[in-house]
Amino acid sequence: MSTSPTVPVGTSRRRHTGAAASVAIALAAGLSLGAVPSAFASESHDDVLNAAHRGSSDAHPENTLTAFRAGAEQGADLIEIDVQRSADGELVVIHDTTLARTTNVEELFPDRAPWNVGDFTAAEMQTLDAGSWKGSQFAGEKLPTFTEAIDVIRHSGAGMLLEIKAPELYTGIEADVSADLRESRGYVQSSVARDKLMVQSFNFDSMKTFTQLEPTVPVGLLGTPAISQLPDLATWADQINPHHLSIDAAYVTEVQRLGMDILVWTVNTEADMTRAIDLGVDGVITNRPDVLDALLDD
Ligand code: G3P
Ligand code: CA
Repeated sequence: MSTSPTVPVGTSRRRHTGAAASVAIALAAGLSLGAVPSAFASESHDDVLNAAHRGSSDAHPENTLTAFRAGAEQGADLIEIDVQRSADGELVVIHDTTLARTTNVEELFPDRAPWNVGDFTAAEMQTLDAGSWKGSQFAGEKLPTFTEAIDVIRHSGAGMLLEIKAPELYTGIEADVSADLRESRGYVQSSVARDKLMVQSFNFDSMKTFTQLEPTVPVGLLGTPAISQLPDLATWADQINPHHLSIDAAYVTEVQRLGMDILVWTVNTEADMTRAIDLGVDGVITNRPDVLDALLDD
């Protein structure tokens, strides 16, 4: 791993975790990473962000207002949501690019295969049941609009980790996201000031576009770019957010040395949460924010 001081350093805020700091100190001292003590042995984890993936989605239907409220109640710092766009231009919250898995669209609209999100109007999506697939106790749960999600998350006390999902399907969606965020008066300014709003995508071009529109809002890049790519990405991105099993301690340290944060997904067992925290990540994205909250409180 390069530790050259000439590499440009990003401008994002940094909360060096105890474990990350330990790793950095060990590397600077020429120690092997094996010499770094477990974060759990000696460090506080108060600064590790708990992000509820699609809300509290292990026990609730993902990307619904119920899942968002539950995530906040279970101790999540951030609610992760996926945003796409309807046929008539309204932003909606759903993960898959089709409605088939998480709604009863096939029953209500049997002739509309393949049931792409972008082929349905917002009014049509409002007629769908987005809860029953998860359990009969969630029957009638609606597919949220982005505006509804902002309102619920804003008043839940949690922050928002907003993923622009498949932006290549929705030309100009970055400006739509910005416009909806700005419709909620004062939301962007107050949330950014408290580290309660960040936007991410697998599509790096989309994040470049978004950060030009909303330069104060941190942007995250989903995936695991090569270490050689990180210095360039650090000139404009605030987070690198990889799959939790795709990284090691050296990767975490390099991301953070360049001034970026690293949030990993999707971490659902206590063992994997412990591993991620020990690596020194800044945030853990999980379907089980209650389990992570208990672990972080230990
Ligand atoms: O927040 C990270 C994670 O949501 C990325 O994967 O497929 O669950 O949107 P996916
Ligand atoms: Ca997502």
